Order: sequence, then C-alpha cells, then structure tokens
Amino acid sequence: MTPSPQSKSQPASLPSSKPRILTGDTPTGTLHLGHWVGSVKRRVELQTTHECYFLIANMHAFTTRAEHAADIRRDSIEIVRDYLAMGIDPKLSAIFLQSEVPAIAELTFLFAMLLPFNRVMRNPTLKDEIKIKNLGETYSFGFPLYAVGQTADILAFRPTGVPVGEDQVPHLEMTREVARRFNQIFCGVSEHAEDADHEKLGGTFPIPHADVGAVGRLMGIDGVNKMSKSLGNAIFIADPPKEVQKKVGKIFTGRKTLTEPGDINNSLFQYVDAFILDPARVAELKDRYARGDNLGDGHVKQEVADALNQLLEPMRERRRPYEGNDDAIIDILRDGCVRANRVAEETLAMVKDAAKLSYFPRRLTLG
Ligand code: TRP
Repeated sequence: MTPSPQSKSQPASLPSSKPRILTGDTPTGTLHLGHWVGSVKRRVELQTTHECYFLIANMHAFTTRAEHAADIRRDSIEIVRDYLAMGIDPKLSAIFLQSEVPAIAELTFLFAMLLPFNRVMRNPTLKDEIKIKNLGETYSFGFPLYAVGQTADILAFRPTGVPVGEDQVPHLEMTREVARRFNQIFCGVSEHAEDADHEKLGGTFPIPHADVGAVGRLMGIDGVNKMSKSLGNAIFIADPPKEVQKKVGKIFTGRKTLTEPGDINNSLFQYVDAFILDPARVAELKDRYARGDNLGDGHVKQEVADALNQLLEPMRERRRPYEGNDDAIIDILRDGCVRANRVAEETLAMVKDAAKLSYFPRRLTLG
C-alpha cells in the first residue's frame, strides 16, 4: 500500500508537516469579488501555513454544459489566470484539473455506495441548483452524482479544512458523512467516536471542516441577489478601473436624500465593510450615513470604488504576464496535477487497503 515512487523529473512533494487543505471551483468563466471575499482571499492567507491543493472542477462543469466542451476548456484556463492574479502562488500551492486525477473518479464510484440515494437528493445545494438553473426533471444522472464526486475531490486529499463559500457547506456535511461511514465500516472506528478522534482510532480520513470566508455571501451590484456571473450583477477580478467605477455606481440602495437616515445593512455598506480597510473610516461612514449627516450614496460609492481599484490593481499587474499565454498556464497545471496525484494515489491505496480492494500496487505517470 505504499504510494508509487515518482520519477526524478517530478517536483518535490509539498512539505507534509503542515496541515492540508483542499478546495476548488467549477470553471464558469472569470472570477468575481464574491469569489475573492468568500474563499480565495482565505486561500491566499493559508498558503504559507498550509499544504494547499486547489482543484479546477472541470468534470463537474460537464454536468450542465456537456455540449460546450470548448468553453469549459477555455474557462478552466481562465480561472487559473484569475487564481494567479489574486495571489495564489503555484510554487506554494498545487493548482490542478479534476479530470487529470483518476483517483477522484475511482473514489466517487466507491463513495456512491456509502450514501443513500435519497440522502444525496436531499442535499439543499443540489435542490437549489435544480431550481435556480431551471433543470426541472431533465438533468443528467451525473448532475446529482457531482455532489458525491465533490466528497471524493475533498477526501482524496485527506484535508483538515476546506475553505469555501456558504453555499458549499451542505457538500461539506455530506463529505463528513462519507468520511465517518468509511472509517466506521472499513476501519473499525466506533459509531460513537468523536469526529476529532477518527484518525487516531485508525480511520483513513480525518473529518474535514468547512472554513467559510469572512463574507460568505457578497451581494451583487443589483443589491438583491448574491453576486453571480449568470445574474449579470458581478464585478470581475479582471475588470478595468473605469468598469469597476461604473459598476459600483450602480449598486442599488433605494435611498433618496442625504439627510434621510440610511440603512447601513444595505448592499453598499456590505462593500464598505468588506473592502474599505481602515476600521475607523468604516465606523465614521456608518455613523454619518445612519444619522443622515449629509453623506450621499455617491460619496460612499466613490470611496468603495477607490478601495476596490486599490485591491484589484496588483491583481491586474500579476495577471499581465499570463494574458494570452496558455502554455504557461498548462505548465502550472501539469506541475499541480503531478503533486495532486501523488497525494490522491496515496489516499486511494489506503482506501483500497481498508476496503479489501488492494490486489497489486499501481504506478501512475503523467506525460
Ligand atoms: N462545487 C464547487 C463550486 O461550484 C466547486 C468544487 C468542486 C469544490 N469540488 C470541490 C469546492 C471540492 C470545494 C471542494 O464552487
């Protein structure tokens, strides 16, 4: 059950003494500020203290867009560009493609046997997606299967934490159920064991927790819905300064006069809280706005736009060398896939051992 030896040309393993985290995104196009505050910012903070794996869920994209394979490929590359722009450092973190880590698909099949069908169908995130995306009764078999697949994405890395936005928490709950069940039926861990004790008691998997970002749900510029590319209310990481200014100008508050006490729970103030860095200035803006002390939406918006452009400028800078350079991105992905497979193959070997599925060792090479 030892992991396969790797060839000399492959990069060294990531340091293994650090706690491990895994998270990912479905490639749907360019990333926006909701991704930044909900999860990516946290990832950037964690990359020096944790061993990090960031997955591009390109197979999951096929659950609803199988007829748009070329777009999925383009979006998968684009998302890496945004990661790099936001400060994910490929030397520290492994950025990799779900489709190039076969252990994930194999674990998905096995984990599908550990979850009751009705449990999967009750997953609230799946149910919401069926509603929001109008999938009705016509969705593919693979659509609900992706939720099982996500448990495999995560557990293949045996991480302790998973930095995600709030909407992913139900997937994490299901992942924890799979991990507990696996440890119970294949590793002899007691049903009454505390989550924290599972590994100590011989379980293959730690029971991972969701690490939700400071702003789990950033509102879009419409002031009504969560920021989302498909709802047309997003400010993108790659938006130029003028576009950012224009979009911030559109944030809807419904306030009419400068002397009318303003509601600091509106979307505009969510941006103030999330993006203006000086806490004293944030407190002052809130106080004056709430009292109707001659502070207009326009002024607040200007300060928000300035703060956003300050945040985004270094990102634009970091993005530039990768603009139009797909080869550089593919090199980063190849390296990330090698590192990801090393861990995922090790997990798969442990799983096969525990589930009495190990007959002979195997070796995986990437071209
Ligand atoms: N479902 C997630 C999303 O749509 C993407 C994802 C796939 C993911 N696999 C994951 C997130 C594993 C965290 C961990 O954003």
